[in-house]
Amino acid sequence: MSLAGGMIAVEALRTMLADRGARIGRAVEYHASIGSTNDRARELAAVGEPEGLVVLAGEQTRGRGRAGRSWHSAPELGLYLSVLLRPTGAGERVPLVALAAAVGVASGLRAASGVDLRIKWPNDLVVDPPDGSRRKIGGILTEGRAGVEGVREVIVGVGVNLNHDSGDFPAELRESAGSLRMERGRRIDPTGAALALLEGLERWYVTWREQGDAPVLAAYRDLGVGLEGHAVRVAGPGGSWTGVTAGLSEDGALRVRRDAPEGGTRGEIVAVRFGEVERVEET
Ligand code: BTN
Repeated sequence: MSLAGGMIAVEALRTMLADRGARIGRAVEYHASIGSTNDRARELAAVGEPEGLVVLAGEQTRGRGRAGRSWHSAPELGLYLSVLLRPTGAGERVPLVALAAAVGVASGLRAASGVDLRIKWPNDLVVDPPDGSRRKIGGILTEGRAGVEGVREVIVGVGVNLNHDSGDFPAELRESAGSLRMERGRRIDPTGAALALLEGLERWYVTWREQGDAPVLAAYRDLGVGLEGHAVRVAGPGGSWTGVTAGLSEDGALRVRRDAPEGGTRGEIVAVRFGEVERVEET
């Protein structure tokens, strides 16, 4: 077990965010233990909490990941937080909020840790060394709700492995999961990491609101891994199929050229919006 965890200094975090006049973090609710910070943020959104609320937890007992998976949320080793946003506009813009969040979180954590953190579409935070030993360091679960007048709320839930050793992960994750500490070789201060993460999120959310999609897409392409020319398997609502990535589309979908059927010619390009995309060995 790692001894290098550590409590987040919530009061200090609140003060630093308030001093900076930040929109994200104008209110910070802390729970030593909670089911899921996303669920709590959704409850507060439903009773009219304004944009910028952060729900932070020392541990989660029912942390949720994408595609119905659970999120391993060991006490005090990771960051577990959710941010309530209320972007205006139509629902089709929500995927871009998710990409802006990924860019913001990744750039904030890069600055705080010095780790070359990258984004695997859509919202995984990974390290991706040239030897192919990609490890997942964090993930983002973005959940939106729309009303007749457009998007009502978006909850950005972020889980980051900060101070885990490999023995802190369940056996089935040990091959694929990593932490900032494992990468950096030193303990990562959770308060500094949370502050940097929230600042990055604020910077890129405001950029998206004020300047639109283009700068977010450009930054995402810079930080993204495997967006172009990588053999992948896509598992989505329509089953599982293979292809080669062909870039990010302007609405945030991953373009994948489907492998041609046996004896067939070039496959069509599919814009993947939902589903899981995993790298496969090229044949
Ligand atoms: C993924 O599957 O990669 C996304 C993981 C998101 C986990 C975070 S931890 C804080 C927030 N609360 C949750 O229940 N999930 C998100």
